[in-house]
Amino acid sequence: MDLKIIKFREIDSTNEYSKKLDLDINSTRYIISDIQIKGKGRVGRDFLSSDGGLYLSIVKDDLKDVENLPFITQVAAVSIYKSLEEFGIFTYIKWPNDIILKDKKLAGILTEVVSIGKSLRIICGIGMNISNNVKNIETATSLFSNGFYIEKEQLLEKIIEKFENYFEKFVRNELEEIIKILNDNSYVIGKEIMIYEKNSSRKANVLKIKKDGSLLVSYIDGRVESITSGEVSIRTK
Ligand code: BTN
Repeated sequence: MDLKIIKFREIDSTNEYSKKLDLDINSTRYIISDIQIKGKGRVGRDFLSSDGGLYLSIVKDDLKDVENLPFITQVAAVSIYKSLEEFGIFTYIKWPNDIILKDKKLAGILTEVVSIGKSLRIICGIGMNISNNVKNIETATSLFSNGFYIEKEQLLEKIIEKFENYFEKFVRNELEEIIKILNDNSYVIGKEIMIYEKNSSRKANVLKIKKDGSLLVSYIDGRVESITSGEVSIRTK
């Protein structure tokens, strides 16, 4: 499959731009921008996207036969984790969509699915703080503020390479390695978490990440349940 890279200096949101592209079943498109003026996060949040960060959307068309599309967020998480590891940077994966460095958020993933005619398009958006200023230093961090001075272009190339590799495995339903990386480097397994969903919140203990990418948790009353990413957000403290 062809890889096409489309670069911007500034854009509203690479995910929003991706929704407007024409159908192209023979290529994967990578939309990159130095700055986003309306970066989107999960559950309707904004994603601050100033100069120096990495903002990328991966666009794949015609995924009719692919099941479990939310798993693509886990494919991206593993690709980011493995790319950073190659630069000597060891992070954790906070299910379902964050990459954590020294207990703070370094990167986030927003996967969206839209229909284009009869075909499905997946847009996997990745945002990472590299040399940009981070506003909320209590909860977020960047590579540079931890002394990791790596080239954004090199990291982008690595993430794209890893994503293609793990995506192929996902399409072939070879999920074992991905699930192992998610479990071995999880930020939430063994912890007590709060699960927020619409107007409710629940306390739970995290047991593991299951083969389908869902999170297995247990409650105080002994009940065990699988949580799918959907609109859920999680806090560890
Ligand atoms: C989150 O942490 O809630 C997800 C953040 C996802 C941000 C990326 S940056 C590239 C792409 N374009 C967007 O508008 N959002 C995603």
